[in-house]
Amino acid sequence: MRILQAAETLHTTAKAIRFYEKEGLLTPEKDITNGYRNFNEKNLLRLSTILALREIDVPVADIKKLLENDDMDMNQYLNIQRSALFERWLAIKDMIQTIDQMVKRTEGKDFQMQDIHELAKQLKHIKTKRTEWQDRWNFNDQADDYDDNIKMQGYRFNVHQDYDKALQMVTDYVQMKTNDTCLDIGIGTGNLGAKFLQKGVHVIGVDQAENMLEACKQKHPEIEVRKGHFLALPVLDQQVNAVVSSYALHHLPDAEKLLAFVEMDRVLKTGGQICIADLMFENGRHRKKVLEAFQEAGNELAVDAIEDEYYADRSILEDWLTKHRYHVAAITINDILSVIHAVKQPAL
Ligand SMILES: C[S@@+](CC[C@H](N)C(=O)[O-])C[C@H]1O[C@@H](n2cnc3c(N)ncnc32)[C@H](O)[C@@H]1O
Repeated sequence: MRILQAAETLHTTAKAIRFYEKEGLLTPEKDITNGYRNFNEKNLLRLSTILALREIDVPVADIKKLLENDDMDMNQYLNIQRSALFERWLAIKDMIQTIDQMVKRTEGKDFQMQDIHELAKQLKHIKTKRTEWQDRWNFNDQADDYDDNIKMQGYRFNVHQDYDKALQMVTDYVQMKTNDTCLDIGIGTGNLGAKFLQKGVHVIGVDQAENMLEACKQKHPEIEVRKGHFLALPVLDQQVNAVVSSYALHHLPDAEKLLAFVEMDRVLKTGGQICIADLMFENGRHRKKVLEAFQEAGNELAVDAIEDEYYADRSILEDWLTKHRYHVAAITINDILSVIHAVKQPAL
């Protein structure tokens, strides 16, 4: 098949095909007598893949790498691309919302340029927060041993004390109907999400660590895994009936936890539930008391472990949820572990 016919068949242009050829993505045979390109079935299939990936905005250089790699896992790659597009989409959404606010301010009689500067500053702050989080625990390396490690007691400080109890409480609190959708953020190897499969619901597991997603998929093929993170959930608005999470939120600093709640609220339907089991203190006083008790007992290991992460102040999370129309209940499981259950009320 000649170039014009190939272009017509695949609804593209000869110019585009020549460009991909020049970039080394495609090498159709040339007729030695007249130099015309000859596209066979294999070339057309490859060209269709290139066009499909361009349609979802994959850069040409990445497509080249993907096509050169024989072990290419298209599913994994699409997952990464979806996560990147969600980050871009949210960044654009933030900018549009800021523009809306700026326009509103300029309409007021007492408009001051200072207001615009302030809004731009807030936008920059959110942009930084959404992108600066780094996995300093390297969860990709923990995926293989994670399930064995949670069963270990730990020396003088057991961070996973009551782990099974906490996961079971989340499962019991969140009432769902068959075919509802449950989103588990920071799903790890799928221990919490899997409990929801038994309720006949569709489970989407999000994690920033690809090896965790892989381990989860191996254990529970029915869970749909998506690469993403708390501050850019790879889910469209109001798509899920419940958001659950266990032992993940404490990897985010406090200000980012609230931004994570904004994200959870965005993807959650009205009437939906958020249920989180995590390492947290009831409030600032409780944190001080628990840390002092460990210090007095000479348990520096516990103090260091707690200070290495971002155990939440539960009262701040409850406060945010209450202010954003949630009915909230919180339960202390032990000195460092709580469950928060919140139900989203309709807008007034
Ligand atoms: C301690 S494991 C908990 C896994 C699982 N939820 C459980 O209860 O066994 C923490 C998980 O949260 C994920 N995680 C940490 N920070 C995250 C973030 N900002 N966004 C998405 N996942 C995150 C990690 O990659 C890891 O898989």
